[in-house]
Order: sequence, then structure tokens, then C-alpha cells
Amino acid sequence: MARFKRILFQPLLFLAVLLPGVLCFSELFFVKEPRDVTVLRKDVVIMDCQAQGELPIRIRWLKNGSPAVESDRVYQLSNGSLFISETESRKGEKSDEGSYQCLAQNKYGAILSQKARLTIASKFRTLVPLAVMAGSWDGP
Ligand SMILES: *[C@@H]1O[C@H](CO)[C@@H](O)[C@H](O)[C@H]1NC(C)=O
Repeated sequence: MARFKRILFQPLLFLAVLLPGVLCFSELFFVKEPRDVTVLRKDVVIMDCQAQGELPIRIRWLKNGSPAVESDRVYQLSNGSLFISETESRKGEKSDEGSYQCLAQNKYGAILSQKARLTIASKFRTLVPLAVMAGSWDGP
């Protein structure tokens, strides 16, 4: 005796198709952006960058529009800030002078910070002329 299995094809319920009315709009925005800074050669510079939004957020740094090259002098801290020890003003690629931006990214997208200019001031401009000092000395 053959038994027939009756298979009932119940109409599928499309319950799961929720329209994006519940749009999870995960905004990503900067809490801290890097700012223009002028330092002396060999100074330490920390460029701040902090973004808020859905985690994980990845921070990357751009220098003059290209990814900043990390080294033992220049690297990104765990909080996203860029650390530069002993800023270099040597001409060419070695110079830390330039325009810095940070790029924050999570799974929804990426945002680019404002540009912050790092300028290395020359010490010579701040020297007090020796002649003035000598002239003001009247002796005992
Ligand atoms: C990250 O840490 C450094 C060193 O502790 C600090 O100077 C900097 O302000 C911090 N950055 C932010 C975005 O809080």
C-alpha cells in the first residue's frame, strides 16, 4: 500500500520584507578635526582627529592629498590622532610641512576632515638682535 505524502504548499509569507522605513541612518561626523599649527623644527606635533558614528570607525591620515607615510617619527596613535615627533623642515619629501586631513570611515561611508596646515617656523625670525641687547647695557 502506497502512502502518499501530502505536501501542503502554504503561501509564503513575506513578512521579512520590511521596507526601509526603519532606515538606520548611521551618521558619521567629526568631533575633533585637525587644525592649522605652527611649530619649531624638532617640536612634537599631535594632530587630532576624532569621529563619532557606528563602530568600528577607521581613521586614516592624508598628507597633501595622499596617504601619510608612517615612520618611527610619524605615526597614528590608537585614538586616531597623528603623532609627529621631531618635525623636520628639510626640503623635499622629508619635510613634515604640508596640508593634513584625516579620513574617517565606517561601514556606511567615509568623511574627510578639513585641511590643517603644518608650518615649521624658522628660529631666526624670533632671535633678538644682539646689538640691541649690548646697547642697553650700561655697565655697573
Ligand atoms: C590622543 O592622545 C594624545 C596623547 O595622549 C592626545 O594628545 C590627543 O589629544 C588625543 N586625541 C584625541 C582626539 O583625544
